[in-house]
Formats: sequence, structure tokens, C-alpha cells
Amino acid sequence: MPVTAREPRVLWLTGLSGSGKSTLATALHQQLLAAGQPVAVLDGDAVRGGLCRGLGFSPEDRRENIRRVAEVARLMREAGLVVICALISPLREDRAMARDIVGAAHFREVHVATPLAVCEARDPKGLYRNARAQALPQFTGISAPYEEPLSPALRLDTSRVELAAAVTALQGLLSA
Ligand code: ADX
Repeated sequence: MPVTAREPRVLWLTGLSGSGKSTLATALHQQLLAAGQPVAVLDGDAVRGGLCRGLGFSPEDRRENIRRVAEVARLMREAGLVVICALISPLREDRAMARDIVGAAHFREVHVATPLAVCEARDPKGLYRNARAQALPQFTGISAPYEEPLSPALRLDTSRVELAAAVTALQGLLSA
């Protein structure tokens, strides 16, 4: 029996590179699948290899990246899937666009609010190091802005909350 008795929702995970968006998305995805809930993950790193190939990190390209993902999320949700989107999506107006595309009633914004210093210390892909060395322009948090959500449905700092507890909190957004 699917865990969402109601209409499925789109969870939009926004946060810095290295904040833990993909880890959270993967963990929730596995949990929902195990419960028999149809679910899909749209992850920035993954979609940029296909659906959004060719887009860079200028404000215009990020906006187009977010727009495409939101449109796909809308279609998937309407087809009955819970959709977990994991994109930096640094600008408020672009996240508002995503909300409009999906439909506000179905959209829940989650701020993965892990501090920059923690993300930078993790630096799993060495991108922060490159950005500090000025080898990577327009890097979010270093040389490009990140606008924190003003009223997210949920805020998670992955340096403070256990993964299992974070997944439980995310699950709560699907039914509340
Ligand atoms: S978004 O801003 O358009 O939402 P998205 O989530 O798709 O970004 O992609 C972010 C990923 O691209 C990061 O996790 C990182 O691996 C990689 N990346 C490469 N260059 C940059 C950059 N200049 N700024 C941010 N992320 C970058």
C-alpha cells in the first residue's frame, strides 16, 4: 500500500553543492520504493548528463535547467509518482517558477541548510577547492549567490540531523 494516501507531491530539495541533497533523495527514494510507493528522483548532476546536457551555470542556464526539471516533475507527479528533485536552484525566483510549474498545492520546498563551511570541508568532488583557486567561475556559495528560502516547508542541516531522522521528516511532507 503506497505511503501517500493523498495525491503525490513533489519535494524540491534546494541547497549548496555538498549539502547532502542527493544523499537525502537517494535514501528517501529507497524507503518509498520499499513501501511500494512509485517514486522518481531528478538530481541536478544526473539530469545535466541528459535532459539538461549543454546547460552551464550562468543564471540563464540554471533557470532553464530548473524549468526543465520542474516540467518533468509535473508530468511524473500527474502520472502518479512522488518526485524528489535535488537541485541547488540558488535563486528564489527560479524556485518560485518551479513551484508555479508544479502547482503550489503539490510542491514542498526543502532547504538542505548545511552550512557552507561544512559543505566546503566535505568537498566530495574537489569543486570548492577549484572555486577557491578561481579555476571554477560562478560557483554557488563562493562566486555565485545562494538565496536561502524564506519559508521552506522543512529545513535540514545534514551535519546536525541523522539521515534516518531526516528521511522521516521528509516522509512527513508527503502526507501532512
Ligand atoms: S543548479 O544551480 O542549476 O540548480 P544543479 O543542481 O543542476 O545546479 O547542478 C549542481 C552540480 O553541478 C553541483 O553539485 C556540482 O557537482 C556541479 N557544478 C559544476 N559547476 C558548478 C558551479 N559553477 N556551481 C554549482 N555547481 C556546479
